Amino acid sequence: MDVLPSDLTKREDVRKVEQRLRADEAITLLVNNAGIGPKGTLLEDDIDYLETMIELNVIAANRLAVAAAQTFAERGRGAVINIASVVAFIPERFNGTYSATKAFVLNLTHALNAEAGPKGVKFQAVLPGLTRTEIFERVGGSFDRFPPSMVMDVTDMVDAALAGFDQEELITIPSLPEVADFDAFTAARHSLGPNLSHDKPAVRYGISKS
Ligand SMILES: NC(=O)c1ccc[n+]([C@@H]2O[C@H](COP(=O)([O-])OP(=O)(O)OC[C@H]3O[C@@H](n4cnc5c(N)ncnc54)[C@H](OP(=O)(O)O)[C@@H]3O)[C@@H](O)[C@H]2O)c1
Repeated sequence: MDVLPSDLTKREDVRKVEQRLRADEAITLLVNNAGIGPKGTLLEDDIDYLETMIELNVIAANRLAVAAAQTFAERGRGAVINIASVVAFIPERFNGTYSATKAFVLNLTHALNAEAGPKGVKFQAVLPGLTRTEIFERVGGSFDRFPPSMVMDVTDMVDAALAGFDQEELITIPSLPEVADFDAFTAARHSLGPNLSHDKPAVRYGISKS
């Protein structure tokens, strides 16, 4: 195994990984996993730390995912797995900067799949719920404040994510019992599409040009 040590909050290190990704034809899979969690709520957190979080969870993740998509699309094969989070769907209930970084990863995956999917590149966004890792310990917290019934064992989460990849899911939510619930959510989102950009404001705003 070849290890390329990188601090992905440093842009020169991200570029080093990007160059390797673009140059090495043996690389056919990118797993965009690196990420850090919040220290508290938005009102409690350190704003400089939140910017470091954006640097890692968004700037580095974006650069590597887009570079991989461009490279794999040229080659006509390859896969990108992006680790997002279910908090992308519940911004009112978690640190907003963290949930926004994960919503970014989710949107990015949808968009890359729409563009590079037809060119032979596979994409998956994994949206774990609470998963027992070192994520909170690294910022002085713990999983103890959550009911154990909400915290998944990491091997179960990863096994489910890989099963979802094998099933060619674009979005994998390991905890969600009924995939029909997510399909209904997606259908509701798409139903907004035809009305999201018109030449006039909606009638309820009372703006009419006579
Ligand atoms: N645990 C959860 O409840 C949960 C839920 C939803 C989503 N996620 C997401 O899952 C992903 C993995 O997190 P985790 O839960 O496994 O947390 P973790 O145990 O703290 O692991 C974090 C991972 O990110 C890497 N990393 C951190 N800072 C880095 C940096 N500056 N440069 C390069 N790599 C860096 C770490 O590498 P080193 O070990 O080398 O430091 C480690 O591999 C993250 O994107 C996280 O947002 C976690």
